[in-house]
Amino acid sequence: MPSLVFATNNPNKIKEISLQLPADFHIKNLIDIGCNEELPETHHTIEENSAEKATFVAKTFRVDCFSEDTGLEVEALNGEPGVDSAHYAGDRDANKNMDKLLKKLETVENRNAQFKTVITLIYKEVQYQFVGILKGKIGKEKKGNYGFGYDPIFVLADGRTMAELMIDEKVQISHRAIATKKLIDFLSNLD
Ligand code: IMP
Repeated sequence: MPSLVFATNNPNKIKEISLQLPADFHIKNLIDIGCNEELPETHHTIEENSAEKATFVAKTFRVDCFSEDTGLEVEALNGEPGVDSAHYAGDRDANKNMDKLLKKLETVENRNAQFKTVITLIYKEVQYQFVGILKGKIGKEKKGNYGFGYDPIFVLADGRTMAELMIDEKVQISHRAIATKKLIDFLSNLD
């Protein structure tokens, strides 16, 4: 397995993805390569922002790397908050983001939503993308103490919210886990 940098500053993402990676898979994080800055996210789609972060790290630090960008897409809101998921209520405050979404959906019956993760791998200067989608519904209130971000209001098919899943269960089924599995399969098949 190649040695790769995971281009993220989000410790929750590092924890989740690390649990899934095989033991012979060596990842470094941004601090290991001396990158202490916010990664650029200036585009209007999850795919482009994911690619932008990976490209920035690959070019600036001359490393093979992967990044990921995730958004929550709500059907009744035409895919909102989507690429704006992190800053939906103005800053990176998960509680405020969830409160804003719950308020917008207060009188809305269609609660269908999906999480979408796009992982971008830059390997030997070539770009690859892997997508993971998980469908669910937006609940009426926050429930659960695990996970992060919108997990407390994302209701799974079995009625639990994502925040009611312990991390080892989340990494079996999540949007990020689906995309990560595709990344691992790809890397396992490299010559
Ligand atoms: P970003 O990919 O770090 O820009 O995250 C976008 C937004 O989605 C942030 O508000 C995150 O907290 C949220 N988010 C990302 N991944 C997850 C997840 O696995 N569960 C719930 N919310 C998430």
